[in-house]
Amino acid sequence: MSEKISILGFAGSLRKGSYNKSLLRAAQEMVPENATLEVFDLERIPPFNQDLENQPPEKVKEFKAKIRAADAILIATPEYNYSIPGVLKNAIDNASRPYGDNAFDGKPAAIMGASIGMLGTARAQYHLRQSMVFLNMYPLNQPEVMVPFAQEKIDQNGRLTDQKTRDKIKELLGALVLWAKKLK
Ligand SMILES: Cc1cc2nc3c(=O)[nH]c(=O)nc-3n(C[C@H](O)[C@H](O)[C@H](O)COP(=O)(O)O)c2cc1C
Repeated sequence: MSEKISILGFAGSLRKGSYNKSLLRAAQEMVPENATLEVFDLERIPPFNQDLENQPPEKVKEFKAKIRAADAILIATPEYNYSIPGVLKNAIDNASRPYGDNAFDGKPAAIMGASIGMLGTARAQYHLRQSMVFLNMYPLNQPEVMVPFAQEKIDQNGRLTDQKTRDKIKELLGALVLWAKKLK
């Protein structure tokens, strides 16, 4: 039997009722049999200060270790002011430093995102892809999972109820697992 592909997921939102956390929970329900999906909470990752990059706090050490141990990364990003939220950028900056110790180096990745707007995080996702170039990650091109009007697709309990979106996430997970196997 072949080994399972381990995926580490995180959402770029600290909000308790985050729609992007809902996407990750839905992904956990649909993860393929030959894969696992662990979700990491970005809460308490401190603002990056390059003066301190050689003495990272425990939370950053833990984040970097989990990224390194994972076969693939799944990011659920909100869109803030046409880009990714500072919380997500800050987490990525922390995990990419000090220079030469970038935990994301060579990692296959998939992106999804939910917003209340009509473009479903498209602009944020392309900014994230730009950062992935310097991080030397391998983001999946397709499918693109951009979830507009999230408030109509996620219920009061934070459950993703929209079947088309659920199907897209399932497709994304399947493609990510194949991609990670190809790159392994
Ligand atoms: C500071 C800020 C900026 C925002 N900018 C955008 C934006 O550019 N595009 C958009 O579609 N939604 C924008 N929104 C609305 C988000 O789509 C909405 O807050 C969403 O719920 C955030 O994701 P979350 O539910 O995972 O926290 C913004 C929200 C905040 C708080």
